[in-house]
Amino acid sequence: MPVTGHGWFTWPNSIWNRANPYPPECRSRSTSVTIDSAISTRGLSKHFGKLKAVNDIELEIPSGQIYGFLGPNGSGKTTLIRMLCGLLTPTAGDVQVLGLNIPEQAEALRSRIGYMTQKFALYDDLTVRENMRFMASIYGLPRREANQRIEHLLDRYNMGAMRDRRAAAMSGGQRQRLALAVATLHSPDLLFLDEPTSAVDPENRRDFWESLFDLVDEGKTILVSTHYMDEAERCHRLAILETGELRKSGKPDQLMRELEGLVVEIEGSDLRQIKNQALSLPQVRSAAQQGLRLRVLMRGGDSQDPAQLLRSALPPGDYEIKTARPSLEDVFVACTAGDE
Ligand SMILES: Nc1ncnc2c1ncn2[C@@H]1O[C@H](COP(=O)(O)OP(=O)(O)OP(=O)(O)O)[C@@H](O)[C@H]1O
Ligand SMILES: [Mg+2]
Repeated sequence: MPVTGHGWFTWPNSIWNRANPYPPECRSRSTSVTIDSAISTRGLSKHFGKLKAVNDIELEIPSGQIYGFLGPNGSGKTTLIRMLCGLLTPTAGDVQVLGLNIPEQAEALRSRIGYMTQKFALYDDLTVRENMRFMASIYGLPRREANQRIEHLLDRYNMGAMRDRRAAAMSGGQRQRLALAVATLHSPDLLFLDEPTSAVDPENRRDFWESLFDLVDEGKTILVSTHYMDEAERCHRLAILETGELRKSGKPDQLMRELEGLVVEIEGSDLRQIKNQALSLPQVRSAAQQGLRLRVLMRGGDSQDPAQLLRSALPPGDYEIKTARPSLEDVFVACTAGDE
């Protein structure tokens, strides 16, 4: 049987001590954490040789919400998640997750978290139900409880009819639903989802996100990494990462509001030429065409209205310039390499 799984499967069953999952030393140390914070990090870094995959990151992730890591390939999202789960030892820094010091108390944490890895980590040769049963045994769920949970999750994630289908024969969206069901088998308080919808079409992505909000409604905390702006916008809060650095964090609305007045749209003909002219102006941070419009992000700090400034700086032509509502993509560009 090909194993597509991770070290996740190798935990000894003894860590799933459900009667007393938190040893006394954890309970006493947990008092140092604010009750609302599911995760907090100070100076968290992971270096691979000279590469600073994660560098000096401070995070405060509230419980009962969806928190997003938004960043391009190689920005450190998976490395961060693996450190927060206790699967990877940081080079430096402090991590507290659900009141536990990580990685020292990682064993106590594991029964309280679910982790959906970036690559499908279940067994292609097993059916939906066999995968769930197998993982329930890894989680140490008693057989009766496991059967009840499995039936509940098959129903909840609309997989009843495909319970005997091999994972290899499932669509991308169905596999992700199975992975989410498995990650929640043991009813964890905190879920780590690493790019859960990268192979999922828009409709299934929407349904998947609805499932996440249902979980939050039940009191779970969810940390999700993504490349997609529309997904990041759905998060209660997010952190924008680039080359291992935390560029910006906050509520999506608040981050977008900070750019109010700095985004300008130009509609008209010859947009490619106007783009080059706009980019030659020192006040212009970036310009990118979106269909029939050119979206221009200004640097700010200028007392003149940005739309007015562009009208006077660009040569006359057949186009219209107006101020636009900032998007999360504008925020991303403003705080990452687009600023260079
Ligand atoms: N075990 C490792 N050894 C050496 N370098 C690593 C290791 N793991 C990750 N890296 C490097 O650390 C950086 C961050 O990688 P990471 O996988 O965390 O990024 P990511 O944001 O998850 O990217 P993606 O969106 O592609 O999944 C990359 O440059 C990667 O090559
Ligand atoms: Mg990754």
